[in-house]
Amino acid sequence: MDKLLIEGGARLSGEIAISGAKNAALPILCAALLTTEPVTFTNVPRLNDIATLLRLLEQMGVKVSREADVVTLDASGVDNPVASYEMVKTMRASILVLGPLVARFGEARVSLPGGCAIGARPVDQHIKGLQAMGADVKVEHGYVHAKVPKLKGARIFTDMVTVTGTENLMMAACLADGETVIENAAREPEVVDLANCLVAMGARISGAGGDVIRIQGVAALHSATHRVMPDRIETGTYLCAAAVTGGDVRLTGTSASYLDAVIDKLMDAGCEIVAERDAVRLKAPARLNAVSLRTAPYPAFPTDMQAQFMAINAVAEGTAVIRETIFENRFMHAVELQRLGADIKIDGNTAFVKGVARLQGATVMATDLRASASLIIAGLVAEGETTIERIYHLDRGYEKLESKLAALGAKVRRLS
Ligand code: EPZ
Repeated sequence: MDKLLIEGGARLSGEIAISGAKNAALPILCAALLTTEPVTFTNVPRLNDIATLLRLLEQMGVKVSREADVVTLDASGVDNPVASYEMVKTMRASILVLGPLVARFGEARVSLPGGCAIGARPVDQHIKGLQAMGADVKVEHGYVHAKVPKLKGARIFTDMVTVTGTENLMMAACLADGETVIENAAREPEVVDLANCLVAMGARISGAGGDVIRIQGVAALHSATHRVMPDRIETGTYLCAAAVTGGDVRLTGTSASYLDAVIDKLMDAGCEIVAERDAVRLKAPARLNAVSLRTAPYPAFPTDMQAQFMAINAVAEGTAVIRETIFENRFMHAVELQRLGADIKIDGNTAFVKGVARLQGATVMATDLRASASLIIAGLVAEGETTIERIYHLDRGYEKLESKLAALGAKVRRLS
């Protein structure tokens, strides 16, 4: 298992490019299943999760070609609308093939993702929506088995805001008979990026980005080329890494426009942010002020940035109160940060973080993707060396992580 070694104390400065958004690319790659024509995607990040999904699509019969950040998919020869447990257990976002497979083939067998470190993460809303559109859905032997001659447009109200639930149902509705209305829809920018891609493929969608999305089913979708949006969570992660080291960095190929809640908190913490057309620059003070936050669906503060902010609060001036309202178990980074000397008390879904003057380097273990990012941020400012184990979690969501950090002056190296 790979480990990451970080020597704390370097002040990050300089410029790096941000990659395409993992959580936009995943549903967008699945959208290729909706058409018999080849579809090309650019700015696709080189991440393990993306590679896993491309393997799954190939197993179904999709022809995959990849050249740097350009991926072309041809789903004309799909003959196996099944996503096996072996594939899905390693990447729960595989559930995103369910909607497109049912819409195009009238049948799909997709393994239940099962829980993951941060929570149970059921897919009952995905199933409820497909049933509303006329699919006969059974959950048996750990698989979701959906069948329907043809999906029918329906009015769907999801019990809670679900990002991939909204995405799955929006994709399914593209080829249904009639109009589908998704109420209480997720408003995340990645949902909008998927909608833009589907429209380029001939879908008729309005309202994406709001909480009511209308989709008029069409007979078929066609080929298109779509550029994946920048990764706002990768952007936020590097902004936090720069902020905690008193740094001055410029991130290119991205923008601050999908990160208002995060930018606001970084400014409250004392950072100066300059938003350019396709770049964002951050200058940090010597020490940050503690900032409290509460995660919630977009446009509120994103749960995927909660762990990173716990790390910067660990050495900030004052005490921060962090409330996690999306996932039931997303504080596992707290115990690892405590090993580095952080003063954190957990009470249910609330964490009280009292800033300390210095953290001490230690060996810590990554548990999930964003928790791993928070350990890196803490390691950048901890005294001495921090070793982060199980960094395969990081490789799922951060492209060329150590080379980007090193380009900003961090003393980091990977031990295989
Ligand atoms: C997406 O997960 C992201 N993943 C997650 O990013 C992100 O943390 C999450 O949205 C919230 O923003 C991708 O886009 C691939 P949800 P998703 O459905 O869609 C409950 C990362 O680090 N729920 O919005 O799985 C669920 O348990 C990952 O990149 C149901 O109960 O999240 C959770 O508590 C981590 N039933 C809440 O809703 C359902 O059918 C929000 O989940 C669906 C969801």
